[in-house]
Amino acid sequence: MHHSHQAQDSTEYQQIEKQRIRLPELRNRITTAAHAASWIEDGMTIGMSGFTRAGDAKVVPLAIAERAKTENLKISLMTGASLGNDVDKTLTEAGAMSRRMPFQADPTLRAAINRGEVMYVDQHLSETVEQLRTRQINAIDIAIIEAIAITETGAIIPTTSVGNSASFAILADQVIVEINLTQSMDLEGLHDIFIPKHRPRREPVPITSVSDRIGTTAISIPPEKIIAIVITEKKDSASTILPPDEDTAKIAAHLVNFFKEEVRDGRLSNNLMPLQAGIGTIANAVMTGFIDSPFEHLTMYSEVLQDSTFDLFDAGKLDFASGSSITLSAQKSQEVFAEITKYKDRLILRPQEISNHPEVIRRLGLITINTALEADIYGNINSTHVLGTHMMNGIGGSGDFARNAYLSVFATKSIAKDGKISSIVPMVTHVDHTEHDVDIIVTEIGLADLRGLAPRERAQIIIQHCVAQPYKQMLIDYLAEAEQRGGHTPHILEKAFEWHTRYRETGSMLDVTKALKVAA
Ligand code: COA
Repeated sequence: MHHSHQAQDSTEYQQIEKQRIRLPELRNRITTAAHAASWIEDGMTIGMSGFTRAGDAKVVPLAIAERAKTENLKISLMTGASLGNDVDKTLTEAGAMSRRMPFQADPTLRAAINRGEVMYVDQHLSETVEQLRTRQINAIDIAIIEAIAITETGAIIPTTSVGNSASFAILADQVIVEINLTQSMDLEGLHDIFIPKHRPRREPVPITSVSDRIGTTAISIPPEKIIAIVITEKKDSASTILPPDEDTAKIAAHLVNFFKEEVRDGRLSNNLMPLQAGIGTIANAVMTGFIDSPFEHLTMYSEVLQDSTFDLFDAGKLDFASGSSITLSAQKSQEVFAEITKYKDRLILRPQEISNHPEVIRRLGLITINTALEADIYGNINSTHVLGTHMMNGIGGSGDFARNAYLSVFATKSIAKDGKISSIVPMVTHVDHTEHDVDIIVTEIGLADLRGLAPRERAQIIIQHCVAQPYKQMLIDYLAEAEQRGGHTPHILEKAFEWHTRYRETGSMLDVTKALKVAA
């Protein structure tokens, strides 16, 4: 059965088939998205490609949603990370999503999670396939993987992300492949697929430099597992990050100054250490700040490669970048993928358990830069739960990196929602990263270097360096009162969440009486 592909005449189409499905016996598996989706059964666990909007399965998931509108069809969905093309939204709206892991960033799904309708397992991104492999979580029935091509041996060549695709395809009973004609054939050779052996006698992951290649360029599976192939021409969704603004530029400048001092004092050399930068606007802006810095021959061992990675390449600042996905704005995506061969020998895409592997992160000595929703005066970080209860996106890879970093940085703007929320609070309402995993906190106000400091010292430095008035005075007062009660980490427990309570009740964390006192 042939996919209806009117745009191509039949000889051109045969050429594409030859180039994209190199194992001839697989060509008769080409089918429609609707037919491929008919393999999915109610209650199945489905593993899909896709990492931060890059390389996601794009048409079969929507066909699953279509079915779910008229029949009882609910799936557990695992991916690399967040998806684009409204896949999470469409599956949620169709009522097809019962469980989701290990990451998401979609407003519709987020709302369903926060209503308690979708069970969301927010997980360190390096751990999902370890738990799958050891059958600690439900096995994957069917994997749906986007590819640029299938090789002569039936191996799958991924597109703009690797994520969990390799292990999903290897561990699933059956595999559906979406061959995406808009993804450049020049991506072939970019990927480095390496699957660790079983524990407890696992050998070391043999990466000792960010540019080391240790695996294969495609995902090897028995070709008979491929039950359907769907040809698509839908593009990756563009990144939603905003350009750097005044505050994020200040955050970047504080960090660049700090690294300059580290170099001056001989603790870092001018190429720093391999850099990891988290997702989102702030982390991207911080990386962009390195363009106008004195540092050179930088490298990245990161997870998502955003616009800033390619800006740094173009500025001649960056020598090499290893990641698990390439997620770009619409404009940048056009530029980069038109000329991907220009960058290819300086790029590797790895499975996320390798890009985020604690062993490798510790060995290479990464400077990790991730983002907090809120931090507390002792340096504990909440990256996931708005006001302690409502899921934003998830922990992603930030825990994999922060815990094992050479130097762990967390950035945040000092205020959110026009100042009605302070991002530095007496006590965080949810802890993703404990104070033990946090060396530096930086806001647009300044930078707190917490290395070697005890909690009472950390509190002084964070309040002095990272917070603006009137929240600064409110924190000084809180700490003074807490210290009178004593303790290694002083708190007034009955007041620790007073700011969050006030926000819920009045729409602002500001204590009007105190704010007036400061103003006077
Ligand atoms: N309380 C409530 N909301 C807050 C807040 C706080 N303390 N701090 C920020 N926000 C809101 C902002 O107002 C903004 O809301 P909007 O989308 O309605 O405008 C939103 O959170 C995003 O904040 P922004 O300042 O634009 O930051 P960002 O785009 O850099 O994203 C995170 C910040 C924390 C949401 C994001 O980095 C994330 O999900 N991190 C967790 C995963 C992770 O770190 N992965 C990295 C490993 S690679």
